[in-house]
Amino acid sequence: MREDGRQVAGEAGALGGRLHALRLEPAGVTLDVRAGESVLEAAARAAWHMPSSCRNGTCRACLCRLLTGELVYRVEWPGLSVQEKQDGWMLACVALPVSDVVVEQVAASPAPASAVRRPARGF
Ligand code: FES
Repeated sequence: MREDGRQVAGEAGALGGRLHALRLEPAGVTLDVRAGESVLEAAARAAWHMPSSCRNGTCRACLCRLLTGELVYRVEWPGLSVQEKQDGWMLACVALPVSDVVVEQVAASPAPASAVRRPARGF
């Protein structure tokens, strides 16, 4: 466990409740990943835009590279070849980090303010 209360990859052993760090390159930002969140969902929650379309692992719009770390996929066979997986390609919409990860997505950028959902004010 880190001083800030977050768990470091490998301490908890399962996805439940654990946070991982997602570093987006070349932007150089580090985001938190919540349990059960895909790379794409974690980026969106942190107001970072990454290319996407189907969000179910078939269209490949979210194709990017895993530079370090480990993933599991939300779907049994995401739209990647074995060779692409071995070469580090991944689909951010269905890729769930199970360790701290570094992901290369040159098209990642801060989401425009108009695209960021803000909580309701309650009135
Ligand atoms: S958004 Fe279509 S495969 Fe990820």
